[in-house]
Amino acid sequence: NNMFVDQVGKKNGFTKEKVNDLQDKLTAAHQAIQEAKEDGQLGFMELPYTQKTIIKEMKEFAEQKKGEFKNFVVLGIGGSALGTIALHTALNHSYYNLNEEARKGHPRLFVLDNVDPTRLKSLLQTLDLEETIFNVISKSGGTAETMSEFLLVRDLVAKELGEDKVANHFIATTSEDTGNLIKIAKQEGIKTFYIPENVGGRFSVLTPVGLVPAAFCGINIEELLAGAEYMDQICKTDDIWQNPAYLNATLQYLADQAGKSMSVMMPYVHGLKDVADWYRQLWAESLGKRENRAGEVVNVGPTPIKALGATDQHSQAQLYMEGPYDKVITFLTVDNHEEDVTIPGGYSEISGVSYLGGHTFNQLIKTEQSATELALTKNQRLNCTISLPEVNEFTMGQLFYMFELQTAFAGELYNINAFNQPGVELGKNYTYGILGREGYEDMKAEYDNKSEK
Ligand code: PA5
Repeated sequence: NNMFVDQVGKKNGFTKEKVNDLQDKLTAAHQAIQEAKEDGQLGFMELPYTQKTIIKEMKEFAEQKKGEFKNFVVLGIGGSALGTIALHTALNHSYYNLNEEARKGHPRLFVLDNVDPTRLKSLLQTLDLEETIFNVISKSGGTAETMSEFLLVRDLVAKELGEDKVANHFIATTSEDTGNLIKIAKQEGIKTFYIPENVGGRFSVLTPVGLVPAAFCGINIEELLAGAEYMDQICKTDDIWQNPAYLNATLQYLADQAGKSMSVMMPYVHGLKDVADWYRQLWAESLGKRENRAGEVVNVGPTPIKALGATDQHSQAQLYMEGPYDKVITFLTVDNHEEDVTIPGGYSEISGVSYLGGHTFNQLIKTEQSATELALTKNQRLNCTISLPEVNEFTMGQLFYMFELQTAFAGELYNINAFNQPGVELGKNYTYGILGREGYEDMKAEYDNKSEK
């Protein structure tokens, strides 16, 4: 691990003793996690076990609808979208939507996680509604972006296909007891899947939020949960050196405390690029917090940044190598890429090109990562590498679970609540007020006052 230096007193990096010095804090964090788990507050830790009971229902439903629909569209945002995007990029064929053979009869997948009118209209103009099923995903059942998309699409389906077809073209994934989406779903007779109450949006990829779209694409959802369970077993220990989630949280925390507040995740596997995006939300929304400690307001939280190797070597690497000493880089690598592609020889008279012939792209991308790692280390830039044997459902389940537990543990180290998002809620509430939602009149008044000034 290249976070460590062997020479005490070097300006960047830290010694292993520095981790051991935190032992009391680490023990307290472990205990807090255990207590919160026993108290039922950490629902994401239960998912590898609880979600097994609905796998059959999700798979059967997906199988039953498979032949009927050629397109599967997710309407959702944030934690209700990013996990599906990450799974799709990692586990589906790289050109899944374009390649019918690779889809093996499964529907194309689209995730509408923004309300940009041009993008919305373009997709709806492109899809044949008759062949399209929409999965509305919202834990709260009230998010403006998702619910407005639902209103638009429901209206189109009713007008184009008929009121009686609405129920068949939608799936609702939401909270079982609260929010408006569940009310609407029941009223319309829409098929529903539930997000456990004690699982927050950004921790929900291994609930029907991520599992239902995955099942529709033919992704092996049992293996996803099996991977998460395997990681849960590994991470039961309180020995920091044996627990990858705890160790990674601690290293990231120490790096931040040492002024490396920019945390870059840089996969060298194209399929993992959206894991970096999913993680960016998880880390930012969970740890970026304002806390009141003994009357003093403290603002904490490292800034997660996504990058992609080798692409961003030609965009970001210069900054990472020689810019401010404020970054820690996490590489994600894979031992075995799914494909093995050899670079053909050619132009033997031009040595600057011909040396590439006979190598593989696998070697090339691995070498690029190792070379970047070495150069960063030489420049005293903190970095660590997480290696997967291969990208598959089992390793993805492990990765999701590890990062979620890492985030919960980091929340304890920062002494903040990693499971709320008051800053996001504030923005949502202003939007509700400005657009005239009942009960949010004071938000509108505040906005109007501000605008007048
Ligand atoms: O992590 C979170 O809680 C958020 O990012 C939510 O996922 C996001 O705001 C969408 O919320 P909802 O699922 O309630 O529509």
